[in-house]
Amino acid sequence: MFVYLNNKVVPAAEAKVSVFDHGFLYGDGIYETMRVYDGVVFMLDEHLERLYRSASFIGLDIPKKIPDIKIAVYETLQANKLTGAYVRLTISRGYGPIGLDPDLCKEPTFVVMANEFKNYPKPYYEEGIKLIISSVTRNFKEALNPQIKSLNFLNNILAKIEAKQADVYEAIMLNAAGHLAEGTISNIFFVKDGILCTPSVECGILDGITRGIVIDLAVKNGIEVKEGAFTPDELYGASEVFITNTTMEVMPVRGVDKKEFKAGDIARLLLKKYRHEVDGYVKEKKGEGPSLWE
Ligand code: PDD
Repeated sequence: MFVYLNNKVVPAAEAKVSVFDHGFLYGDGIYETMRVYDGVVFMLDEHLERLYRSASFIGLDIPKKIPDIKIAVYETLQANKLTGAYVRLTISRGYGPIGLDPDLCKEPTFVVMANEFKNYPKPYYEEGIKLIISSVTRNFKEALNPQIKSLNFLNNILAKIEAKQADVYEAIMLNAAGHLAEGTISNIFFVKDGILCTPSVECGILDGITRGIVIDLAVKNGIEVKEGAFTPDELYGASEVFITNTTMEVMPVRGVDKKEFKAGDIARLLLKKYRHEVDGYVKEKKGEGPSLWE
């Protein structure tokens, strides 16, 4: 396995970062997770746009230009001979003496890791997964905005620990006002009276790239979408529930706490449309001529 570290691809065993790295010391950094279909990184531009947005939120100067980041991503995939993969791009504040001041670090650390994508178990899509509503409140957006895809992930990890203790796949966090926010690594949707509901970005969530595509696909297919502030009771009262993210796409939910659901028609339709969108994207990128993935 090979990893891209700073300016080159190196064997994974040599991909080492200092204990003085502020990503390690303080969780000071950002990341993106992307999925690769048939050698093409899906929504690469959108992920990089969000990466730059996260960087700007934390005052981090990304040491590379977008075309160079794309080359680094594809070089990592090529080195690992991967065509169906997930890619994690991490940028930390970098190496520096102990102390919070970002100026202590001269150069950000830049890492691309890629692994073979292993499909989720089929029953997850056929029957759905289980969730809990976590007792852990999602980070207050005025304190640490969940729109920053940061290395500071303890908020989510605390909720994940609760999910594990409850033997379920994902935990949904509420915001400080008691409204639904998001999962530890996913966005949540539910259907009520035929309307597809999902927490708005103002609720303090990551505006997931999958979430954005799913909203567009729903509208295109005549499904009314409402982004807003919703209570757990509204979720319990839903006719169907699903979660989204880059790797799981659209995953139906069969239970939230004690409430049971059936994997629903809208989730099934949107998953089908999403995969169709992916196929179209891959075809289009491959049709653009000489490319990075060959
Ligand atoms: N997580 N909310 C949170 C807190 C997330 O971490 C993620 C993604 C999402 C969904 O975003 P997207 O649709 O852009 O993947 C929502 C990725 C998959 C991760 O942490 O690896």
